[in-house]
Amino acid sequence: MELVEAAREARERAYAPYSNFKVGAALRTAGGEVFCGVNVENVAYPEGTCAEAGAIAAMVMGGETRVAEVAVIADSPAPVPPCGGCRQKLAEFAGPEVKVTLATTRGETLETTVGELLPGAFGTGHLVSPSDDGA
Ligand code: THU
Repeated sequence: MELVEAAREARERAYAPYSNFKVGAALRTAGGEVFCGVNVENVAYPEGTCAEAGAIAAMVMGGETRVAEVAVIADSPAPVPPCGGCRQKLAEFAGPEVKVTLATTRGETLETTVGELLPGAFGTGHLVSPSDDGA
């Protein structure tokens, strides 16, 4: 199935009673499997989670950790880009070249990449402090 279509189907199950803004996300892994997620809001607002985070959790639970393609869909006047936190989350599992399709339920799409969404991502290389090299 086309990835935007998978995200669209997933979106139907979003739990967004507070914002009424339902989001669906779908990830295709390097192995070709598709995992989906939706936003799940909470009455304690900051505890809500984004669709991308749900899709990543489903993928990890499915035993995969490498993302080859991403799609996100919402009912919005323009394709909705992932929030800052989700950009970092995606960068953990997807290289900068990975295609991200932002879609609206009205049929509009915008293609970008993980690297365009988050240039200069914080990565594992930054965790090594100069003193760790024995100096
Ligand atoms: N949201 C997502 O799930 N993904 C995005 O990329 C943008 C925002 C959700 C969070 C919240 O439940 C609702 O959209 C409104 O911000």
